[in-house]
Amino acid sequence: MERKTLIDDLERVLLTPEEINARVAELGRRITNDFRGEEVRLVGILKGAFMFFADLSRQIDLPVSMDFMAISSYGKATKSSGVVRIIKDLDNDITGKNVIIVEDIIDSGMSLSFLKENLISRGAKSLKICVLLDKPDRRRTQIDVDYVGFTIPDEFVVGFGLDYAEQYRALPMIGVLKPSVYSRKD
Ligand code: IMP
Ligand code: MG
Repeated sequence: MERKTLIDDLERVLLTPEEINARVAELGRRITNDFRGEEVRLVGILKGAFMFFADLSRQIDLPVSMDFMAISSYGKATKSSGVVRIIKDLDNDITGKNVIIVEDIIDSGMSLSFLKENLISRGAKSLKICVLLDKPDRRRTQIDVDYVGFTIPDEFVVGFGLDYAEQYRALPMIGVLKPSVYSRKD
């Protein structure tokens, strides 16, 4: 599908590529300052975080190593219990590492609660969470997020890695989908 067609499916643009770039650079500077003299292990959560991860990693002026995880919820019925399945685990041990989880968005907080506990139990030296987007209205569990790009309203967004039915990830901006797009598929 052409990008122009994809952009036509947006009701409005929430964050332009320029706004995203500026904020990602700022997050990179903060992480660089917070971990000065240390090494960090960036853990990207596939697939949604891939674009944010790539840009953020290039804004951190420290020795950085990278790893990735993929997770999925067991389904709507079990999502409330926070049961999350690991689809792809880390390749490397994180014992003694300064781990920063890099995620696209925190919504209910169930995914990140699971990930945080799971990675702490593996003996990380420190564990921080960095998300591009935060939808606080939807939170169902208390969780501290260390680095937040943007706080956004409770609307379904796509672009810059975020998808709807695996579409729209490649859009360079973040936008709200037209409701007609959902009804088309349902
Ligand atoms: P949580 O466990 O509810 O915090 O789930 C967060 C996950 O839900 C994210 O990693 C996304 O994959 C997905 N998600 C939540 N809100 C959105 C959205 O507005 N657009 C696309 N994906 C979303
Ligand atoms: Mg995700």
